Amino acid sequence: MPSRSSRPRRGAAVAASLALLAAPLVATAAPANAAEPRVSNPFAGATQYVNDFWSANVEAAADRAGGDLGSRMRAIADEPTAVWMDRISAIEGNADGPGLRHHLDAAIEQKQPGVPMFFNLVIYDLPGRDCYALASNGELKPNATDMARYKTEYIDVIADILDDPAYEDLRVVATIEPDSLPNLVTNISTPDCQASAPYYREGVAYALDALHAVGNVYSYIDAAHAGWLGWPSNGGPAAKLFKEVVLSTEAGYASVAGFVTNTANSTPLHEPFLEDVQLGSTPVRSASFYEWNADFDEADWTAHLYDLLVAEGFPTSIGMLIDTSRNGWGGADRPTAVSTSTNLNTYVDESRVDRRIHRGAWCNPAGAGIGERPQASPAGFPESHLHAYVWVKPPGESDGASSDIPNDQGKRFDRMCDPTFVSPKLSNQLTGALPDAPLAGQWFESQFRMLVENAYPAIEGDGTGGPADTTAPSVPTGLTAGATTTTSASVSWTASTDDRGVTGYTVLVDGAAVGTTSTTSFTVTGLEAGTSYAVTVRARDAAGNVSAASAPLTVTTDEDDGSGGDDQPPSAPTGLRVTGTTTSTVALAWNASTDDTGVTGYRVFRDGTQVAEISATSFTDTGLAAGTAHVYAVRAVDAAGNLSATSGTVTGETDEDGGQPAGACTVVYSASSWNTGFTGSIRLTNDSAQALQSWTLTFDFPDGQSITQGWSAQYAQTGSTVTVTPAAWNTTLGAGASVEIGFNGSHSGTNDEPTAFTLNGASCTVG
Ligand code: BGC
Repeated sequence: MPSRSSRPRRGAAVAASLALLAAPLVATAAPANAAEPRVSNPFAGATQYVNDFWSANVEAAADRAGGDLGSRMRAIADEPTAVWMDRISAIEGNADGPGLRHHLDAAIEQKQPGVPMFFNLVIYDLPGRDCYALASNGELKPNATDMARYKTEYIDVIADILDDPAYEDLRVVATIEPDSLPNLVTNISTPDCQASAPYYREGVAYALDALHAVGNVYSYIDAAHAGWLGWPSNGGPAAKLFKEVVLSTEAGYASVAGFVTNTANSTPLHEPFLEDVQLGSTPVRSASFYEWNADFDEADWTAHLYDLLVAEGFPTSIGMLIDTSRNGWGGADRPTAVSTSTNLNTYVDESRVDRRIHRGAWCNPAGAGIGERPQASPAGFPESHLHAYVWVKPPGESDGASSDIPNDQGKRFDRMCDPTFVSPKLSNQLTGALPDAPLAGQWFESQFRMLVENAYPAIEGDGTGGPADTTAPSVPTGLTAGATTTTSASVSWTASTDDRGVTGYTVLVDGAAVGTTSTTSFTVTGLEAGTSYAVTVRARDAAGNVSAASAPLTVTTDEDDGSGGDDQPPSAPTGLRVTGTTTSTVALAWNASTDDTGVTGYRVFRDGTQVAEISATSFTDTGLAAGTAHVYAVRAVDAAGNLSATSGTVTGETDEDGGQPAGACTVVYSASSWNTGFTGSIRLTNDSAQALQSWTLTFDFPDGQSITQGWSAQYAQTGSTVTVTPAAWNTTLGAGASVEIGFNGSHSGTNDEPTAFTLNGASCTVG
């Protein structure tokens, strides 16, 4: 392992050799408080850094939910969550959040004099990251060039920042590279993990050395969870591998404070109703759910791991951390007593609080809840040698997208995150992942709501959630049958409306829910050929209010003609919008569809009649009368002639002759910036006496800003000009109504605010 000694260090291990050189420098640069000596448990007696970026997401979610749920969300907004350095740009700060110095400075501000404070940091950018999954694949590939980048552009830069004397009073707790070494224990037979293995070992050792040299960093190596390494055949080799890697560092055992388990997983802390005993003559561990693994929970695994590590030679002073951010499993489905069944599988399934279908289900698992709040030296599991319960995975951040979302972070679509996927890794069961999930690491509000609702211990509200949102969205109308195959049927409907916004829809077939979507169309799959079904749809809002079911629509699947061939229709075009109007034209655009054999074109319908078939994703309807409104829809078609479901509709109204487009409007713009990133918020009010059937807001950024991700609307940027068009649920903007939209962006200058906004062609008052 090459040693890194070019950078000056402040650690105890090298203090003697640097003493002469360092003394005068430290005397001038160090803050008045001298750095505290190393402690055995950095959490003991310490306050904890609250990540303001995460808290802001929680507060915004609480505002939207309102009522008791909002109040419960707000009750945890000040819990400490870890800061993830998930790519090189995260160090400086990027569109997904502020950088390391911002957080460290904020921690110093939060710190009270004389009271230690810990700062929870995650090191997560190894070459070949996440070698057994796709959702968190990273920017660095498993090769020597990227290994060098990991060292010089990532670890060294982080270590240099942490080494700044301004931060020497913080206890920095570093979680080292989640899932990496555990993958080398259980998944080394796969080519990706084989390719990554040497870089994982070298990278982890390098990170440990660099962080140890800083002095006030306490490193905890990620040790997976009970349902991954608990079997003796995995746990034993894991302890040996940890030892090998740790002993390859310069400081050996001194470079680690301990291990952290359950990072971003949802294995319970404790299964209160299950013991590893016999049920009749059968060991409980032999139930299908445990597959002969006696470690039922994280209390078991940490105690087991501690013993294995100490037996390997690790000092008895090491401690364990458990990520309890999402392993609560409360809510209505939590068992309250041990099962009375004499059938082993029934007994285990009825007794376990872990409600997953399989312990390997790691992606946004449905039914999970927030677990124990962060806590130092928790009582109750003395054999586990716990230093703390920590929230490493910030609750509400996605584990991976439920569909393919292009991105520049190296993240890929892992079907373990797709709720419709039957996974061979889960004994051929559905994944149990939540639908409509964004990319790993992005805010996923419906998951957050579920986690708060299912928290265990339960979260108490204090009445500060504002008025409860008890208004259900309007009932979906206009159900329209789209494409059918022998096994599927597509339906679309008109968007519902709600006082605080519709978040999605549940689709039901013959009364049973078959899926959810945040758009206004859905393809039901797994149907029988030549059969009729009644499809209904319900809308839901951010507070979980659900509308009544729509009137049923009868759909009939195609008869199977035995011909085989391509009978999969393309996906429905999304984002249909009006991009401009004149007295005689309406211009439309939409997002491209996808299809297994490729999309060949789009059919555009005006008031239900096809007016064009084109291959582009935009169209201008001409020859219309002034001041008339038309309803447009688009369907995609593939080479075999299969037609997609409709896009949903949009209304385009030609301009009145000589008149102005609807204009009176007010825009309130605000931005919260850090380094090179910022979050922008826009409140747009229609001050006219007329409802807008669709709206387009444009503005220019004065300072080279660029939008990286938006919500509650669609954003297109050309140079400095931004064009904002509505999301499906806020297409209509009533007279006097407002819509709140937002985005993340990057900037390189002073991030000056835009000064002029235009709504449907007319300028707005800037409020
Ligand atoms: C993602 C990271 C993210 C982290 C915390 C991981 O799954 O890959 O990008 O920072 O979760 O949410």
